[in-house]
Amino acid sequence: MPAAELDDAGFAALTAKIARERAFGCASYKEKCLRRRIAVRMRARGVHRFADYAALLDRDALEYERLIDTLTINVTKLFRNWSAFDAISRLVVPILWEGAARPIRGWSAGCSSGEESYSLAILFHRHAALRGEPIDASRLQVLGSDIDRASLESARRGQFAEAAFADTPAEVRRRYFSARPPFEVVPEIRSLVSFERRDLIVDPPPRGMHLIACRNVLIYFDRSTQETLFQRFHDALAPGGFLVLGKVETLLGPARSQFAAVDPRERIFRRR
Ligand SMILES: C[S@@+](CC[C@H](N)C(=O)[O-])C[C@H]1O[C@@H](n2cnc3c(N)ncnc32)[C@H](O)[C@@H]1O
Repeated sequence: MPAAELDDAGFAALTAKIARERAFGCASYKEKCLRRRIAVRMRARGVHRFADYAALLDRDALEYERLIDTLTINVTKLFRNWSAFDAISRLVVPILWEGAARPIRGWSAGCSSGEESYSLAILFHRHAALRGEPIDASRLQVLGSDIDRASLESARRGQFAEAAFADTPAEVRRRYFSARPPFEVVPEIRSLVSFERRDLIVDPPPRGMHLIACRNVLIYFDRSTQETLFQRFHDALAPGGFLVLGKVETLLGPARSQFAAVDPRERIFRRR
């Protein structure tokens, strides 16, 4: 039996099993990334062969959950990379706020436990407050979606650990979160945000979006899946809608001519 890293047949059988049993589309993810993540769990359980790990998954439902958790990589923070949110608040929010859209529709695609979704809603709320204008769900709706149910449950609670605030300016934290644990987002923001389970690969995207943030998600997908997703985001956006990617992500293929760069450093683009 070859060592796990050389056992391509074993790897293929294991990923086919996960895709079949957990509807997790392994084939669209970068193989290197999947191998690294699966290896983390195999090491944690002291298992050396893919076939043995597959057998362990059959016996141990909790391990299956841990594996899916490891594969989906849920790390996130409120206002993760503050400079990107600062740029969104200067270059995107005022344009959408002054525009005709009622409500403005935002989509945090791959939202994990909701930090990005609430952060976007807060940017709009701050803008409205500065202008002395009201904001409710008839004016702004942010949809957070993810493939991972456990993350979505946590997102719906809207409560965050201290570490989630590392990138959050103190005045924003004071205004929008309870002062004591569990640090909970205020109801005015909670009411602007909803969550849904969606698999970016298999589920059709929502339509008529004005702002899509898909950050630190595409990096895990192979190139052709990324190109497909850019096409879907293009179709999901209303004309002139904005797309924000993560710091190390960029447009590929036909998307390069379908979007104009608004702030290339902060990965903000606009549908042509
Ligand atoms: C690293 S987190 C990014 C969270 C947030 N966007 C940020 O930048 O902080 C990646 C998220 O993508 C989600 N994800 C991975 N594959 C997905 C898929 N096929 N459909 C929807 N979400 C997916 C994971 O569950 C995870 O919550």
